[in-house]
This record gives sequence, C-alpha cells and structure tokens, in this order.
Amino acid sequence: MTKSLRARLFVGLTAVILLAGCIGGAFTYLWAFDEAIEMQDSTLIQIGSLLQNGSVKSDQSLGGVDADAEVDVTELGMAPHGSAEERLLWSHQDGLHVVSRIGQSVRVLLRTRPDGSRFAVTQLTDVRDDIASSMAIRTLLPIAALIPCLLLVAALVVAGSLRPMVRLAGDLDLRHAVDMTPLPLADTPSELHPFIASINGLLERMKLMMDQQRRFVADAAHELRTPITALSLQAENLDPADLPEQARERLGALKQGIRRTKHLLEQLLALARHEAGPNGEATVVPLDRTVKDLVADLVPEAARKGIDLGFQLIEPIAIKGEPMMVATMVRNLLDNAVRFTPQGGRVDIGVYREGKEAVVQIEDTGPGIPSGDIDRIFEPFFRGSRPAEDGIGLGLSIVNRIVDRLEGIIVLENISDRRPKGLRATVRLPAMYRSDPREESPLSISQLSRST
Ligand SMILES: Nc1ncnc2c1ncn2[C@@H]1O[C@H](COP(=O)(O)OP(=O)(O)OP(=O)(O)O)[C@@H](O)[C@H]1O
Ligand SMILES: [Mg+2]
Repeated sequence: MTKSLRARLFVGLTAVILLAGCIGGAFTYLWAFDEAIEMQDSTLIQIGSLLQNGSVKSDQSLGGVDADAEVDVTELGMAPHGSAEERLLWSHQDGLHVVSRIGQSVRVLLRTRPDGSRFAVTQLTDVRDDIASSMAIRTLLPIAALIPCLLLVAALVVAGSLRPMVRLAGDLDLRHAVDMTPLPLADTPSELHPFIASINGLLERMKLMMDQQRRFVADAAHELRTPITALSLQAENLDPADLPEQARERLGALKQGIRRTKHLLEQLLALARHEAGPNGEATVVPLDRTVKDLVADLVPEAARKGIDLGFQLIEPIAIKGEPMMVATMVRNLLDNAVRFTPQGGRVDIGVYREGKEAVVQIEDTGPGIPSGDIDRIFEPFFRGSRPAEDGIGLGLSIVNRIVDRLEGIIVLENISDRRPKGLRATVRLPAMYRSDPREESPLSISQLSRST
C-alpha cells in the first residue's frame, strides 16, 4: 500500500465512487429494463384494443408503431384452423403469453372480438429485449457521465484538504535553521493541531537547548577573558625587564599566543551574543561615521603593512540597528581585507546609498576566496583552503548572522575584471534617512582618504 496519504485517500474515494456507480448502475439498468418491457406490453395491449373495437383493421399498417418493433397481427378466425402455429395460438386463452415459435420466443396478446373471431398481436422476445436494453442503457448515461466528474471533485477535495499540511511543510522548509518561533495554530484544521503542538514542543525544547549552549559559550568566553587579560598584563610587565635574547623571543611568541586567544574569546563572545538575539535597543546608526571610526582603528595596522587603506566614496547615510552589532560586522570585514591583503596592497571602501539601500563595499587586493570555499565560507570555524595564520574562522559567520538580523544581504565576490585581483565584499542594508552631514566625526575624510 502506498505511503502517500493523498494517494490512499484518492484510491479509497475512487473505489467507493466506482462501486457506488456500478451498484447504482446495475439497479437502474434492471429497473429501466423492466419498465421498458412493461411499456412494450402496454403498446401490445393498446394495439389489441384498437383491433378489438374495430378502430383499426388487421390488414392496415400499424401507424405510430415503430417498424423496428416488429409487431405482427395474426387473424385466427372463429375456430382453430390453418397452420400448426395458428392452432397453437388458438389454444391459449385471451391475454398476454410467451410462446415458442420455430425455436424463437414470442410475446403474444390474444383477444376475441364481440363477433367471436380471435386475433393475436405478436412480437419477438429478442426484439423486445433489444429495445428494452437500449432504452435501459440510455438511462445509464447520466451516471456514466457523473463518475468522471465525481472523481475530479474527489481529487480536488483531497488536494484541498491536504493543502494545510503541504503549506505547513513548506513553511518549515523555508525556515531559517535558527528560527524557533512556534508554528501558528490559527487557520489550520483541528486535526493538525496535535501535530503542530508536538512540533512546537520540539521547537521549544530545541530553543531551550540552543539557548543553554549559547549561554555556556558566552559564559565560558566571558569567564576566560579576565585570566587572559591578567596574563596579557603580566606578559607586558615583562617588556621593560632586562631579558636575554632567547627569553625575549619566547616572550614575543607568548604575547602572540595571548593575542590569538583573546581574539578567539572576543569572536566566540560576539557569535554567542549575536545568536542570542538583540542585546540592546535598535537605534539610528550613522553608517558613514561608524565605518570611518573603524577604519581609523585599522590605520596603524594598514600602515605597518604598507597597505593603501581609504575611501573611494563616502556618503552620509544611516541604518537602524544596534550600534555594537553594526560595528562588529564592519570590523570583521575590514579586518579580513587588511589581513588578507599582501604588503603594499590596497583596500578601497565605499559607503553610499543606492535606492532604498545603504551599501558598504570593501575591495581588497588579496588572493580572493577559492571558488571551492565560497559555499562554506559563512560556516563557523571554516577557514578555507588559504587561511590566515591567526584566523579562527568565525568572522564571516558572525558577519552573516548580523546582516541577517539587520535584514540585509551580503555578497562576497572575487574581483576578476581588474588587476590586481582581490575580493569585493558588499553589504546591503535597509537605509534610513541621511544622517546629518554637518556632524562630522573626529577624523575627516581627507585624513582617512589614503593612509600609506
Ligand atoms: N578578504 C579576504 N580575502 C581572501 N580570503 C578571505 C577574505 N576574507 C575571508 N577570507 C577567507 O575566508 C575564511 C573565513 O573568514 P573569517 O573571517 O570567517 O575567518 P578568519 O578571518 O579566518 O578568522 P576570524 O575572522 O574569526 O578571526 C578565511 O580564513 C579566509 O580563507
Ligand atoms: Mg576574519
């Protein structure tokens, strides 16, 4: 038996419709057949009456009676005489009979006129049956026409009844992996309610589990921050000390390790925070100023690598969001661009409005992302086939989640139409009104435009 509910319902309904059609059809046929036979008997009786009262003579044609009906009148005279067949007919009493004539069954009506002469109105039983069955078959036509219509209605009803289930499955399929909001009960058939309630229960348990996991990661990262900061301070305290060359080298490695661990904790904390949902009030974020401040933070690092870091285009534009969230997103993208761009390279930044969107675009002259890595690039801890030494692989997954939360989109594309090649990261977010251009941030555009 098929596992599809729709197929089972349809097969079941089809069987019921066909069975009902067959049984109904058989009864209708038999009933109509009997009626047609009775009708033909009454035709014989009417002919008999006309002949008996002399309105019609037996040698006249029987006008009005269908020739196909093959109705014959045999005059039998006043006494038995003539052929054996006539004698046989004479032997029957007046009324309707079935007699056998030369191997054929015949329906006969015998009548006696007032003058004593008798006659027989005959009709072949086969002919009568043919007429009756063709009449009965005609009564079956409406039923035969109704069956396909009923099957169509059944298919539509089945499809319509299962539509809420299909819609539910579609809604679940389209859901974001981390979307744990319960499924709505409104507008769904009551039969689905236990099912939906179970799914909602499961979603709630999963949400609880994910929240616990997130809280654990966030707590662990947070708890580890203090000892790492203390460790970092201790390491820095060693700077002025008079250390042998070898110890100083080791100290450098230790500080690098501490920096990396601090970065890991910061990224884990950011991921846990942004997965947990909004942490603060969504406010108007002046995107141009936020990006400018973050670029300013990166100027020393860019200068150290001899990278030409600057704005190609910057327009005053604002978006709605949590300032910290927006900053984390832009910082991670800028950090990647500067980190992956080789010595003497270039990073161009654009912040501008395009229609209803605020766009942040960062182009670098790094190696770009190998096409085999692009599909997985937003996965947490995925560092691709050309990872940076000190990368963790969380940056882009954090960026992706924040862009999602801000209802925007992010596109990473390798630049192939110019030399040197590189990566172009474009984030599009719903724009608000323009932020006030008179309110300048502490660093002017000219200061930031090129920092080599
Ligand atoms: N601008 C870029 N140019 C080339 N490759 C990049 C660039 N940005 C990201 N990638 C690739 O994508 C991978 C994932 O980036 P992501 O920012 O998520 O992690 P990460 O930079 O390695 O670590 P983290 O940002 O957590 O410190 C990187 O390891 C690198 O292979
Ligand atoms: Mg990164």
